[in-house]
Amino acid sequence: MKMYEQLAGELEEHLAAGMLKAGDKVPSVRQLSQQRNISITTVLKAYSLLESRGIIESRPQSGYFVRKSSHGTHTLTADTDSPARLKPPPVASNVEISQLVLRTLKTISRNDAVPLGSPYPDSSPFPLTRLSHLANNVARKSNSWGVLDDLPPGNINLIRQIAGRYFLNGLLVDPNEIIITVGATEALNLCLQAVARPGDTIAVESPTYYAILHAIERMGMRAIEIPTSHKTGMDVDYLASILESEKIAACMVMPNFHNPLGIVMPEENKKKLVALMTRARKPIIESAVYNELYYADTPPSSLKKYDTEGYVLHCSSFSKTLSSAFRIGWAMPGRYRDKVENLKFVNTLSTSAIPQMAIAEYLTQGGYDQHLRRLRKIYQQQSRIISSVVKRFFPSDCIISEPEGGYLLWVQLPPHIDAMRLYNDALERKITIGPGNIFSNTGNFTNCIRLNYSYPWDSDIEAAIITLGKIIANYRQPDAPHP
Ligand SMILES: Cc1ncc(COP(=O)(O)O)c(C=O)c1O
Repeated sequence: MKMYEQLAGELEEHLAAGMLKAGDKVPSVRQLSQQRNISITTVLKAYSLLESRGIIESRPQSGYFVRKSSHGTHTLTADTDSPARLKPPPVASNVEISQLVLRTLKTISRNDAVPLGSPYPDSSPFPLTRLSHLANNVARKSNSWGVLDDLPPGNINLIRQIAGRYFLNGLLVDPNEIIITVGATEALNLCLQAVARPGDTIAVESPTYYAILHAIERMGMRAIEIPTSHKTGMDVDYLASILESEKIAACMVMPNFHNPLGIVMPEENKKKLVALMTRARKPIIESAVYNELYYADTPPSSLKKYDTEGYVLHCSSFSKTLSSAFRIGWAMPGRYRDKVENLKFVNTLSTSAIPQMAIAEYLTQGGYDQHLRRLRKIYQQQSRIISSVVKRFFPSDCIISEPEGGYLLWVQLPPHIDAMRLYNDALERKITIGPGNIFSNTGNFTNCIRLNYSYPWDSDIEAAIITLGKIIANYRQPDAPHP
């Protein structure tokens, strides 16, 4: 047995013997580490284990407390614990889930299945006809067919339009910082490559978007998963303690409409995260692909807003709002700008010219804001519908997220449910879901699923949710009596 497991067992015994009651504070990590003469990491691991067993809980800036026994509520309210609060031991892991993700995505993209598992939005509200006309027009009129015209940083008109959009949303950015990429995926990969090397450890949210884990895997780096709450996002205090004990090269986050949790990190936490990493002179890579899909009246701010020293590398794209097929994204890499531009050049030379020109023209002609307003309304309405249908037809001890933007719902199923089994059983009935397994290496989310609600609500989707509810209800609990 490892030292932290031994410590966790000992503490568990103490608590079971009634040494502390529900709600009492347990000794601080530092206190216990000094008392026992053991490392902070060992204590943190022990506390994480106890937290994942539901024995203690951490409260931001207050420490760890003995948990009150909680009964299943249905939505994640301010008082309930997030499915993502389960703290994984802070052990860096090599990432090997890309094969599982690829297999899963291939089946999810099957046309004959209900696409609840898809990561991409339904494209029917997108202005695709107009975009393809524009693409035709710009291609016909263009006299620049050479790659040399679109060398990094990319199409200058598009760059100006993107900078203009940030300005509209309250962020003044220098157009010279923007580099056009092949979707946000390339932006994330280039930024990671610019700031870290093989063997380095990267802090990520837990759960996180699987392509972040892929980027880390591809570059021979290791991921360390930081607990991420549905209320406050990545646990910045926890990250701070990890920075003291581990060599972290960078961190990768989704502060707005996190995939898969749908949450927005509160302003205080955004500021705190940027201040922490800036003090440590460590870069933060943020994905902002859902930023324009907010349900509130105003857009959320990105980490870039608080970045005074250029440590934030901001990545985004038009994939979630205009067309995922055009594959147009961008990076604003702060002080790493020249490095990212050079990596873009040596990796892929340039980004396809026609989609860049077509989107630039679309943004110039106007209508994007109107399109976005419509999209936000659709997603917000559909988020209400799917939430109420899931509440009605899933077992009552499921916990669902309350997305504040985007189009993804996260559902924590009872602990005995295996999301991969559910994924396979659902697929047999021509329904796809996103199994929690692909969002983490910790195994903490194997009873969670992600559902895409961007598709117009119809009887097929409703029937699919009802079927999922029935399949879940039929999985017998391990200790349930045989009928
Ligand atoms: C958080 C996040 N970042 C990046 C991406 C990838 O975006 P793109 O399709 O532009 O590469 C996704 C897609 O699902 C995402 O959810």
